[in-house]
Amino acid sequence: MLTGKIIGLGSYLPPKILTNDDLSKIVDTNDEWITERTGIKRRHIADAVEDKASTMACKAALAAIEDAGISGSEIDLIVAASTTPDVVFPSIACCVQGAVGADGCACFDVNSACPGFIAAYNTAQSYIESGNAKTVLVLGAECLTNFVDWEDRGTCILFGDGAGAAVLRAEEGMKNSFIMKASMNRGACLHCEAMKQPKRVDEEGFLKSTFMYMQGREVFRFVVTEVPALIDELSKKYEFDLGEVDHFVFHQANRRIIEATAKKLGVSLEKFPMNIQDTGNTSSASIPILLTQMKKEGKLKKGDKIVMSSFGGGLTWGANYFEY
Ligand code: ACO
Repeated sequence: MLTGKIIGLGSYLPPKILTNDDLSKIVDTNDEWITERTGIKRRHIADAVEDKASTMACKAALAAIEDAGISGSEIDLIVAASTTPDVVFPSIACCVQGAVGADGCACFDVNSACPGFIAAYNTAQSYIESGNAKTVLVLGAECLTNFVDWEDRGTCILFGDGAGAAVLRAEEGMKNSFIMKASMNRGACLHCEAMKQPKRVDEEGFLKSTFMYMQGREVFRFVVTEVPALIDELSKKYEFDLGEVDHFVFHQANRRIIEATAKKLGVSLEKFPMNIQDTGNTSSASIPILLTQMKKEGKLKKGDKIVMSSFGGGLTWGANYFEY
């Protein structure tokens, strides 16, 4: 059957780096605590002026298109994932369209918090597998540090900024299999109520409502229970053995979450690539940034079987299984 194969990958990380030691000068924390609890050592920070979700998305997109060796005019659809867009409309996908010279193609954004890239990827695959598109650009782009309360040590240590992109092209191959879930019943433990609006910053309580709020321990417990269960469900529903999977490309949120998931699934941690030490949690951008790094390091081979999985605000969680 026709399915989308990843033919190009690209990412962009803003140049400014914030280390754990830098953070210890802002809030009461230290490198040892952050490293032990999260695995994060440093993260890239966008200034939200030169580098924001839409501009970082454009840079990642151009890199992915160059890697694919195609021209922008060959793209039929652009799907961008972001929870921290700097534009209300046009969408980030439309901003990218202008930058890559893909005039006339379909463009839209999805917001599914951290699993946004998987949601965008599955949407792209559904267009390709139903014959509605041949070449699709999929992105995740986030400027989370613009929504962080820099006085809250429980969250500000976790996040970084960046963007990643993949070009999918219709080829004969194995169908993309996926399951996506959400539970608003558990939404209260991770949310951000409002976009930053300069005219409203003096309104009582408004600035606070633009900060991300998280009950970290609750989210942690939820993820280490639901994500392994979801991957088990995915393998049973689509009849594959976890032993056949070459790479478990997970949302980079916390090293301990990945370790606990690998243990529950009985899979070697070596199959879980990680770059969280250098990026922090970049939400929907984390998976395409990691895939790009894996490609550059020669860790992806045509035919490799990949499970991607992510979780985040909503609460939302999802996973898919496909052939590289
Ligand atoms: N430095 C030092 N101490 C700290 C820090 C810090 N940065 N943050 C919290 N502490 C303290 C707490 O005050 C607490 O102290 P106490 O025992 O005296 O009360 C102690 O450390 C333990 O705090 P916990 O919050 O229970 O720490 P925990 O081990 O749960 O780690 C963490 C916190 C890293 C946030 C973890 O819960 C986590 O990673 N949760 C999941 C978050 C996540 O993955 N979110 C994903 C989605 S993000 C999105 O969708 C945008």
